Amino acid sequence: MQHANTVTSSGTDRRRTRGRPGRRPDAVSLLKSDHKQVKAWFREFERGGSRSRKNQLAQRICNTLKVHTRIEEEIFYPAFLAAGIDLAMHHEAEVEHDTAKELISAIESFGPEHEYFEARMKVLAELIAHHIKEEEQRDGMFAKARAGGLDLKQLGEQLRQRRNELEGDGRRES
Ligand SMILES: [Fe+2]
Ligand SMILES: [Fe+2]
Repeated sequence: MQHANTVTSSGTDRRRTRGRPGRRPDAVSLLKSDHKQVKAWFREFERGGSRSRKNQLAQRICNTLKVHTRIEEEIFYPAFLAAGIDLAMHHEAEVEHDTAKELISAIESFGPEHEYFEARMKVLAELIAHHIKEEEQRDGMFAKARAGGLDLKQLGEQLRQRRNELEGDGRRES
């Protein structure tokens, strides 16, 4: 699947995890903080609200998920794969990402006025909730990565840098 060259994160209320190197989050806490943020936005979206707030939330969800799936695919998943921890789990996660990206692309290209906008957002929320569970649960991808001895501190640093780069690109273009 084609990736857009630049992705943006326009969320001003987004939890941020910058700081001194020693206090920076490891890969798992960094990825989990994205999950938490996106789930909160989905909950707010589902509660309803003004059309403009819902559009803004959909945009933030899509932008954050584009960056999140991309840094996982570029950094975390390859490390998980290379460590030979669980091939099937890795492949399933990649396929779920592909499905999420198809939905995101449809949400973005057809826009919030489209008849299927709400349906797409609902299915995306369900897919992401399932995917997050598979990453975070006991015996999930994150637990296996930790047990498998991946250097989560180092990966956290790489993820953080790449996320900043991608978000920086987005800001420059917007
Ligand atoms: Fe994730
Ligand atoms: Fe993922």
